Amino acid sequence: MREYLETAIIAARAAGALQKQRFCGEFVIRHKGETDLVTEVDQESEALIVATIRSRHPGHDILAEENEYLPLNSGFTWVVDPLDGTTNYAHGIPWFCVSIALEIEGLVSVGVVYHPMLEQLFTVIRGEGAFLNGERLTVSSREPLKQALLATGFPYDRAVDPDNNFDNFFKFQLAARAVRRFGAAALDLAYVAAGRLDGFWESKLHPWDVAAGLLLVEEAGGSVSGYVGEPCRIRHHRIVASNGRIHQEILAILALEGRG
Ligand code: IPD
Ligand code: CA
Ligand code: CA
Repeated sequence: MREYLETAIIAARAAGALQKQRFCGEFVIRHKGETDLVTEVDQESEALIVATIRSRHPGHDILAEENEYLPLNSGFTWVVDPLDGTTNYAHGIPWFCVSIALEIEGLVSVGVVYHPMLEQLFTVIRGEGAFLNGERLTVSSREPLKQALLATGFPYDRAVDPDNNFDNFFKFQLAARAVRRFGAAALDLAYVAAGRLDGFWESKLHPWDVAAGLLLVEEAGGSVSGYVGEPCRIRHHRIVASNGRIHQEILAILALEGRG
């Protein structure tokens, strides 16, 4: 596992260095959808990460946001968000990260989330704990929900699909201390692991948004599930992650109809 973690760290640092160097510079921005952007730096970061993985583990599979890769059916899948927080990046807001995880026979076993502007490297190996720059992480002990700081996000198709999280946002703004919308789901999860945020929920996320972050939360002693408490997988689109203590309260709010 150490070798795989090392691969993820090398790749995340390389992509992060590129992102930092090009931050607020000139780069091409394309629209994937009306509000969904992709920059040249997303693509270049993915190329760097994929090259690093390929050079060290040529037989492994890759599931990444910006390109499709030929399936090798190896049982080892690298799950890569080369730049999580693209909207922030494109607007010159220094809140974005690289997220890389390795799934072995369907189980996420290694993860890295790297915030290049703050040089914060979150690392995790299943069964060995979660770390930030080498320091062990534990989730917060804050409860009840009324005193909790939460984060969430909204899907890119929010204007056309009523399943857009607006109702939940309204309910949690009243039920919790506050709700943040930072714009990088992988960092939200890493911050739950670090005990800075107490909980997180979001729907319509992709495996690359959450694979590393969910393992960080679990290994920091937190809880992860779907919206009705079902076990959470990275291909699950409705995610709740918390310090554990407020998990049931979060699920109860999500179960309320309408604006509660
Ligand atoms: C997005 C961010 C955002 C979340 C979106 C994601 P991207 O990822 O994580 O916080 O709300 O759902 O798609 O597009 O910046 O990689
Ligand atoms: Ca993402
Ligand atoms: Ca991305």
